[in-house]
Amino acid sequence: MPEAIKVRPPTPSGLYFLNKTMNKKDVKNIKEKAEKEIEKADTLEELDHIYKKYLAQNKGELTEVLRSLGDLPEEKRAELGKAANQAKDFIVEEIDRRKEELEKEKGFDVDIDVTAPGEEARVGHLHPLTKIKRNARSIFKQLGFSVIEGPEMETEWYNFDALNIPENHPARDMWDTFFINQPADEEQGRSLLRTHTSPMQVRHMEQNNPPLRIIVPGRCFRHEKPDASHDIQFDQIEGLMVDEDVSVAHFKAVMERFLDRFFKKDVESRIRPSYFPFTEPSFEVDVKVSDEWVETLGAGMVHPNVFSAAGYNPERWRGFAFGIGVDRLVMMKHQIDDIRLFYENDIRFLRQF
Ligand code: FA5
Repeated sequence: MPEAIKVRPPTPSGLYFLNKTMNKKDVKNIKEKAEKEIEKADTLEELDHIYKKYLAQNKGELTEVLRSLGDLPEEKRAELGKAANQAKDFIVEEIDRRKEELEKEKGFDVDIDVTAPGEEARVGHLHPLTKIKRNARSIFKQLGFSVIEGPEMETEWYNFDALNIPENHPARDMWDTFFINQPADEEQGRSLLRTHTSPMQVRHMEQNNPPLRIIVPGRCFRHEKPDASHDIQFDQIEGLMVDEDVSVAHFKAVMERFLDRFFKKDVESRIRPSYFPFTEPSFEVDVKVSDEWVETLGAGMVHPNVFSAAGYNPERWRGFAFGIGVDRLVMMKHQIDDIRLFYENDIRFLRQF
């Protein structure tokens, strides 16, 4: 009786394995065939298919060979087993290698889904202080004020004397000053970083005839110890209106209109008496935020001595002036509790506005 030949079911490729006829050459053929297919494969799906064709748990061509080893005579089994295992490792490695190649190529050759939502592009935006300054400027423009700018480096004359603060006057201590280290000018005195935007009142009146309505936004500097509501640099908006019959009522109307438009609601504000050498009477305006009064700006009726210093006739002209602390305004609007955050450039803080 000849030994029965075991016929296994066909593999996906249609091959029949006849255990008795399997030898090293067959394994070599399978390996070479797989190698060619792997090289030709252009997609990960194809590679997956090749893997299954040769190495699937059941019906993989090479798996079949390995499984049939038990039917072989001892001496053949070791030899063919070794060859089949090497072929298996080879195919697995080749598939992995080709997979990597394809994945790299994919980076350059992908199908683009133009309908897929894109990644959000991070674009920069204006600093919150800049936004507020622009907003404030535009409101004052609507109220008929022109916008002008002045130098950050000033002289003692414009920063103090012309504003009715003579040398050695105790009021100078109200403004802790950074002086510039250079020789003083005989008429203008020492140079300094302006402590407020008020010097522009006189500079502008010297060059322009009344009536006038201006605002002067700009940076100011004070030699102060920084804390949550004071910094060594901050922004002010100076305002000045001069005409023959300007009164406190005009100031009140302009300020209330500005605050309402700025905060986009009816804002509760109050005017308190105060003291500035360059205004008489002088006042401070507080704004109510979360049930608390916050000091926001200084103001008053232009002092006759200031008109005289600028060459205006104080008998004829009347005017009001104010100086708004812009940083405090932004803090109020956005409920920010520390002024120093504006200048630290922490991107997490700035992104919120
Ligand atoms: C002045 O500087 C006057 N020049 C304002 C003025 C103008 C009065 C015209 C009358 C007529 P004062 O020192 O109070 O005043 O400052 C005005 C505002 O600037 C303050 O209300 C505050 O909001 C802001 N400010 C002052 N110092 C600082 C500081 N160190 N840091 C941040 N804001 C400040």
